[in-house]
Amino acid sequence: MNDSLTIAVSKGRIYKDALPLLAHAGIVPKDADPEASRKLILETNLPTIKIVIIRTADVPTFVEYGAADLGIAGKDVLMEYGGEGLYEPLDLEIARCRLMVAGFPSTSSDGCRLRVATKYVTSTRRYYAAQGKQVEIIKLYGSMELAPIVGLADVIVDLVDTGNTLKANGLLPLETIADISSRLIVNKASMKMKHRQVKTLVERMAEAVESARL
Ligand code: ATP
Ligand code: PRP
Repeated sequence: MNDSLTIAVSKGRIYKDALPLLAHAGIVPKDADPEASRKLILETNLPTIKIVIIRTADVPTFVEYGAADLGIAGKDVLMEYGGEGLYEPLDLEIARCRLMVAGFPSTSSDGCRLRVATKYVTSTRRYYAAQGKQVEIIKLYGSMELAPIVGLADVIVDLVDTGNTLKANGLLPLETIADISSRLIVNKASMKMKHRQVKTLVERMAEAVESARL
């Protein structure tokens, strides 16, 4: 049985925030900056561990299908993806933000069905359905804040951290749907077949999270 582990991480915010945790767990990529090197497979100081760099929304797919044994993904992405095909053993407490409804201070749908622009279609539908509300969801891939300004939607559902992006566009946070942070996820077969290696890594990452809290 091959005892190597592949970890899927997205570049940008999650990679940057995950580096200190990985270092604490004894894993240091040889090319510390995937943005500069443009490499998609990073060797690490440990010959048995490599990191693959993929888009945020693809991390659960790589892990569920076993193309990576483990991954790091935001809870926002995992909520959209659906969790049945993966284990989610650890909250890494990085890339914290909130999934929120936002809009103009006096948002109303004028008696019509509320129009909501978002890239989080599943989470948005679930949120309004739980309140018994039928809404019209407009799928966007970015720049959600523009939608209420140009009259494409009444409100948006997007991530909010400092609130600066909303403020810069004259919008307000209205309702919190979920608190978000990044999670360590594990392929189900790897958890069985490479149990010792996966367990050791999860334990080390948990220690790293604990020490980052202090
Ligand atoms: P891609 O990999 O496709 O470029 P992306 O642009 O969505 O994806 P990021 O903006 O780096 O990637 O976001 C990655 C994750 O970081 C999100 O899924 C979310 O969990 C978290 N996140 C996003 N925006 C913020 C923010 N402003 N503050 C804190 N965490 C955030
Ligand atoms: C995210 C999110 C918001 C912004 C919120 O975008 O989509 O636009 O952060 O953060 P704030 O409340 O601190 O302003 P990001 O900066 O990741 O850019 P992106 O649109 O490329 O994902």
